[in-house]
Amino acid sequence: EKKKTWMLACALFLQLLCSVSELDRSQFPSSFLFGTSTSSYQIEGAYLEGNKSLSNWDVFTHIPGHIQDNSDGDIADDHYHLYMEDIELMHHLGVNSYRFSISWSRILPRGRFGKVNSVGITFYNRLIDALLLQGIQPFVTLNHNDVPQYLEDRYGAWLNPQIQKDFGHYADVCFKAFGRKVKYWITFNEPNNVVVKGFISGVYPPQRCSKPFGDCLSGDSNIEPYIAAHNIILAHATAVETYKKEYQAKQGGSIGIVISTRWFEPLRDIPADRFAVQRALAFDIAWFLDPVIFGEYPPEMRQVLGLRLPTFSSEDGRKLQHKLDFIGINHYTSKYIQDCIFSPCEEGSIESTAFVISTGERNGIPIGTPTSMPDNFVFPDGMEKMIMYIMQRYNNIPMFITENGYAQGSTSNDPTADMLNDEGRVEYLHSYLTSLTRAMRQGADVRGYFIWSLLDNFEWLFGYTQRFGLYHVNFETQERTPKLSAKWFKEFLEGPEVIE
Ligand code: NOJ
Repeated sequence: EKKKTWMLACALFLQLLCSVSELDRSQFPSSFLFGTSTSSYQIEGAYLEGNKSLSNWDVFTHIPGHIQDNSDGDIADDHYHLYMEDIELMHHLGVNSYRFSISWSRILPRGRFGKVNSVGITFYNRLIDALLLQGIQPFVTLNHNDVPQYLEDRYGAWLNPQIQKDFGHYADVCFKAFGRKVKYWITFNEPNNVVVKGFISGVYPPQRCSKPFGDCLSGDSNIEPYIAAHNIILAHATAVETYKKEYQAKQGGSIGIVISTRWFEPLRDIPADRFAVQRALAFDIAWFLDPVIFGEYPPEMRQVLGLRLPTFSSEDGRKLQHKLDFIGINHYTSKYIQDCIFSPCEEGSIESTAFVISTGERNGIPIGTPTSMPDNFVFPDGMEKMIMYIMQRYNNIPMFITENGYAQGSTSNDPTADMLNDEGRVEYLHSYLTSLTRAMRQGADVRGYFIWSLLDNFEWLFGYTQRFGLYHVNFETQERTPKLSAKWFKEFLEGPEVIE
């Protein structure tokens, strides 16, 4: 009996060893994009330079009490000035792609009511040229949270259909200026997160919400999130239409959208919780993906919300018909879902997310091991399951993992040994990449993977207290120091390439 147990233990150990050492670059096609991900507000700084106007995040962070450490993105990583150095870091890592976002307020300080800012165009042209010179494909997001405050003040940004025109104009300017060199465009980063936090919990600008969902002075969380989402979806469709009709044939690139994805598991193995999971996924993900792919909101949402959910006119439908080239998946965490509509559910603190509000599901129970980010729990299987869900629901249209990453909490600027020796991050990335390979072996058409993030940077409500970078940044000196994870990624990327 003892011998048997011993043999079993050995077998398990060997299996573990194999699964750990299994991962390498050769499991991915040679055309696969590997990169790091950032966004303008989180790294650029230079918030008033080069004729840039204030964005909604500039205004929001300047009000004390909004950000955990009362910080802002005024300087951030000073990437606006240090971009050449940062490209050097990427070159050193050996990535073949870089995902970043353009600051709308740098390109069109007054939206469509003012002129195109040539200084902004020059900055991004230089960045893009320098990337290409190093063989790094730019993967460009048009909107990653920051909107010109001017549009907010003038007509209420996302709550007003006028934003569709403004975003369309902005996208057109970018396609025209950079499209010969940029082959991957993303219209929006995580619109689901922007809407939930801006119009339900009210913790992001424009801080609209209503009780009991959040604690705001103005807003109506029963209606406004759905209006804001509708305008974002149609703004996306406007940009896609312009790209498809006027640029794609000439420029030969592709265009997609990025969604924040959390995997959900039923809390109990009962039909009510399994249905609740399907509803939660629809409210979280299909809310945006169904319209931009099928031209309609998900039936799971319509059933619960009825006419609170807007409808698409035939003109909208025509716009939404253009084929989306890829789905960008940001994935960090997973949660258990418990049905609270059809079964009695104990009272507890509910998270203000769209599906909780609309369906009554409680959403407070995480799966996996905690990280320093209160909402991020490590559950690598969630990546595989998420990809399989999206693959099945959307007929395996090409996918990119546009973000995946691990935070360490710290309030100190000094790169402590703990920070630099970030084994937790290496383990995280290794296990999530392994999970990705499992999905790909089942046929998922995933074409790239981007780590969030190249550098420690401004982590929204957490300010500089949460560090996601492969490179440590001292925000006083702007010194960049590679962490163990940077070395690990470099070695991984140097691994054997598949001969096809
Ligand atoms: C998703 C967002 O797109 C990004 O801006 C943020 O910093 C990371 N998640 C980490 O929370």
